[in-house]
Amino acid sequence: MELNCVNLKDIINPTPPEVKGSDKNEEKNREGVNHAAEITPDLQPILDYAIKEMFNIHMQASQTIWDMKMFDSEFKRQGSGFIVCYTNDEHKKLDKTASKGFICVDNMKLDLKSKIIAFFIFYTILDEMHILDITVAKNEQSKGIGTFMLDYILRKYINLGIKYFYLEVRVSNARAINLYKKFGFKIFMLRKGYYDDNKEDALCMVKEAV
Ligand SMILES: CC(C)(COP(=O)(O)OP(=O)(O)OC[C@H]1O[C@@H](n2cnc3c(N)ncnc32)[C@H](O)[C@@H]1OP(=O)(O)O)[C@@H](O)C(=O)NCCC(=O)NCCS
Repeated sequence: MELNCVNLKDIINPTPPEVKGSDKNEEKNREGVNHAAEITPDLQPILDYAIKEMFNIHMQASQTIWDMKMFDSEFKRQGSGFIVCYTNDEHKKLDKTASKGFICVDNMKLDLKSKIIAFFIFYTILDEMHILDITVAKNEQSKGIGTFMLDYILRKYINLGIKYFYLEVRVSNARAINLYKKFGFKIFMLRKGYYDDNKEDALCMVKEAV
C-alpha cells in the first residue's frame, strides 16, 4: 500500500523551517505570523481541500473538538505544521494485513483526488516540537497508519534538529498511549482535570531524540 506524508506548510514554503532557532525565532513563534500572504492562487484549492478533509476526520474521530476557526488560526501561526497522510490509490482498501506493508512514496503528489486518511498538527519552538493532534480516520484506525505517520514525522524532524517532542493525552486513551510508548515517549507529569469536557486527567509525555 503506497502512502505519503506532507506538511502543508512545506507546500507553501518549500524551504524547511530553521528549528535550531534563536530567541528571535521563539518570539516570532509565539506571536504568530500570517502565512496567507504567501499562498499563491494555484495552491489555494489543494490547501482548502486538504484542510477540509482534515477537519472532517477531526470531527469524526477526535475526542477533543476544535472548531474551524481554531484550525485556521493554528494554520496561520508561524512554526506550526499540518501534516497529512494520504494515498493516491483510491481503489485499494486498507486492511490489517496491509499494516506492515506500507510503502512511503516521497514523490507522490498531493492533489484533489488524493485520499487523506490521517493528519498531525504541531508547532515548534527552538528544538522542541509540541504535538497538538494526531488522528487517523475512524474506519482506518488500528491498521498501522498512526505508526507509519509517527515514524515518518520523528525521523524527519529529528533530522531537522528537533530534540524534544511533547504531548498531552487523556489517561483513558489506551491506543494513543500505546502508540507513543512504542516510540519511546515517557510520562513525566499528570495534569489533573486537564480536559474541559469531562475533567479527565492528562498524561504529559516527552520523547527525547537520541
Ligand atoms: C491514536 C491513533 C492516532 C493511533 O493510530 P492507529 O493507526 O489507530 O494506531 P496503529 O494501528 O498504528 O497502532 C499503534 C499501537 O497502538 C496500539 N493499539 C492499536 N490498536 C489498539 C486498540 N484497539 N487498543 C489498544 N491499543 C491498540 C498497539 O500497541 C499498536 O502498536 P502494535 O500494532 O505495534 O502493537 C488513532 O487510533 C486515532 O486517531 N485515535 C483517535 C484520535 C486520538 O485519540 N488521537 C490521539 C490524541 S492524543
